[in-house]
Amino acid sequence: MFAMVIRETGGPDVFEYAELETPVPGPGEVLVRVAYAGVNPADWKNRQGYLAQYRPYVFPYVIGFDAAGVVAAIGEGVTQFAEGDRVFTPTNHGQGGQGSYAEYTLAAVDRVARVPPELELKQAAALPVASLTAWQGLFDRGGLQAGQMAMIHGGSGGLGSFAVQFARWAGARVAATCSTVNVEYLRGLGVERVIDYRTEDIPSAIADWAQGGLDYLMDAVGVSTLPNALDLVKSGGTIVSIPTLVDDGDIPAAAAAAADRGVKRIYSTMDDVKCAETLEKIADLVIHNEVRLPPIREFVLRDVAEVHRILQDGHNRGKMVLQVTG
Ligand SMILES: NC(=O)c1ccc[n+]([C@@H]2O[C@H](COP(=O)([O-])OP(=O)(O)OC[C@H]3O[C@@H](n4cnc5c(N)ncnc54)[C@H](OP(=O)(O)O)[C@@H]3O)[C@@H](O)[C@H]2O)c1
Repeated sequence: MFAMVIRETGGPDVFEYAELETPVPGPGEVLVRVAYAGVNPADWKNRQGYLAQYRPYVFPYVIGFDAAGVVAAIGEGVTQFAEGDRVFTPTNHGQGGQGSYAEYTLAAVDRVARVPPELELKQAAALPVASLTAWQGLFDRGGLQAGQMAMIHGGSGGLGSFAVQFARWAGARVAATCSTVNVEYLRGLGVERVIDYRTEDIPSAIADWAQGGLDYLMDAVGVSTLPNALDLVKSGGTIVSIPTLVDDGDIPAAAAAAADRGVKRIYSTMDDVKCAETLEKIADLVIHNEVRLPPIREFVLRDVAEVHRILQDGHNRGKMVLQVTG
């Protein structure tokens, strides 16, 4: 199969086109012919070597968590899918497997969801990591409830675009931060109080909007951009920090400081729990227009270095996907 691989960690130029052996699905695995690979900030951090604490880097290494495509083969014991089914998945990459910037990729069956006929594969590829992380951080771990006052720090990125809409769909009142160019975008996604972090003081804006403090805060940007997070949330409230690997501060100290103030501080990394089920739920919300897909920019696989440069810059709106065989 063909793939974009890296043979060493480093900047965007380490990518090269290569021919690799096509993987064979083991028991409980699905082989996906990748139509589109979704791109996430974790990908450039992985390319740079920042995931070394979680996985051995074995070269040539295929990066990429998100894939949408067609089932090409199934491993022993897989009964839920058959060859030709349209699927999307965060693959086995989070568990150390090769990723999705390739013609074929593997995924454990409980991480594979069906793409509804109304959804294009390109759209499905934009969903897995960003939408699952948002969902788990809001509901499975964050316990967000209808009527609560919630703020999403970093509302215009891949994750934030889903988080603001899921929170609204669940009946919360939603504020979100972004830079000036994204203010109208976030209003269009139904955010009640858009805070332009370039021109406004976030604590004053929140004090005005959520008197007494927020019930819920998701930080999807990093502690250095929101050093006063604890002052924004009321006692009994929840702060969910999405680990960034580059700007997470002292996690145990922050959790202890929050506990002292009666605030629950959770670090929520995407995991496997109810993965396929949640992805199918999210796809259902999208096709029923309860949640709008963020803008999706499409690039060809060979242009992955350019996509990484954009993402690494830290101001992407919505999602980017790589066309692999689609
Ligand atoms: N641990 C996990 O499981 C997991 C999973 C998913 C994501 N993440 C992490 O979560 C973060 C967000 O992911 P993503 O997919 O949404 O990234 P993204 O698509 O690159 O979006 C980043 C967003 O951050 C915003 N931003 C930058 N500086 C900001 C600031 N000072 N205040 C408010 N917003 C700011 C940008 O908006 P403007 O252009 O308007 O500034 C941009 O829209 C990344 O660090 C990613 O690695 C972790």
